[in-house]
Amino acid sequence: MQLIDGKAVAEQVKQEIAAQVAAMVERGEKRPHLAAILVGHDGGSETYVAAKVKACEVCGFKSTLIRYESDITEEILLDKVAELNNDPDVDGFIVQLPLPKHINEQHVIEAIDYRKDVDGFHPINVGRMSIGLPCFISATPNGIMELLKRYNIETRGKKAVVLGRSNIVGKPMATLLMQKSNPGDCTVTVCHSHTANIREECLQADIIIAALGQPGFVKADMVKEGAVIIDVGTTRVPDATRKSGFRLSGDVRFDEVAPKCSYITPVPGGVGPMTICSLMKNTLLAGQKSIYK
Ligand code: GUN
Repeated sequence: MQLIDGKAVAEQVKQEIAAQVAAMVERGEKRPHLAAILVGHDGGSETYVAAKVKACEVCGFKSTLIRYESDITEEILLDKVAELNNDPDVDGFIVQLPLPKHINEQHVIEAIDYRKDVDGFHPINVGRMSIGLPCFISATPNGIMELLKRYNIETRGKKAVVLGRSNIVGKPMATLLMQKSNPGDCTVTVCHSHTANIREECLQADIIIAALGQPGFVKADMVKEGAVIIDVGTTRVPDATRKSGFRLSGDVRFDEVAPKCSYITPVPGGVGPMTICSLMKNTLLAGQKSIYK
C-alpha cells in the first residue's frame, strides 16, 4: 500500500506556481490577484478561506479578503460580485460556500463573470468542462486528477466508483474520470443515497472516490484487493483530546481499508491540500489570461 501524500504534492505545486509568478513579475507583468468573499463565521469556511489566503502568499499572489456578517442581503452581495467582475485588478474571485439560507447560492454563482470564476462553479465553466473545452475546473476534482497524474496511477479502462453526486465534487469528478484523456478513460459509476447495493458497486471498483460526507462510510468489506481509494470526506467530529475540540474524519475507515489498497489518501493531508492548490492553479491561469482573454 502506498500513501498518497497530498500535502507534499501541494507544496511542490505551489512552489512551481511561485516560480512562474516570480518570472511574470520579473517580466513586468501584473501579479495575479485572487479575491475571496466570506459571509458569516462558519468554522469550516473560516479555516478554508484563511488557508486560501495563506496559499496566495506562498504562491506570490495578491489576495483580498472581503467579509460580511451573515445577515447581509443577497442584493449587497450581488453588488459586490458585480464590482469584482468589473475590477480590472482582480483576476479571479470566489464566494465561499455555504451561504446563509436567505441567500440563493445559484443566483450568486451565476452572477460571477465566468472568466473570473476560479472555483469553476459557473454553468459556462461546468458546461465547457463536460464537453472537454478549456475552462476553470472545480478545485477538488481537479486536485484529485493531479494526484492520480503525479502518482502515475493507471486510470485507462479502469472501473471508477464515485460516491456522492454534489455539484462541487461528485458530478465533476465523474465527468473528468470519463474524459478521453490521461488521467481519464475510466468507466464511471456514480452512487448516491438512492443507489441499490452500494457495497456490490464498490467491490467492482478499481478506483473509489468517496465524497459523501459520511464519516467511515467505506469499510474493508466494500473494497476490492488492490483498489485505489481517494477520500474526500472532511467531517468535523467532536474530539475532547484536541485543542480545537474536533478532528477531521474521512469517509473511509482508513485503518481497516488501507491494508487492502494499492494507493490511499489520508485525512487530513490527502485531498484537502490539493483542493487549495488547484484554486491557486486556476488563479495563475486567470492572471495569465490563459483560458479566457
Ligand atoms: N465550500 C466548500 N468547498 C468550496 C470550494 O471549493 N469553493 C467555495 N467557494 N466554497 C466551498
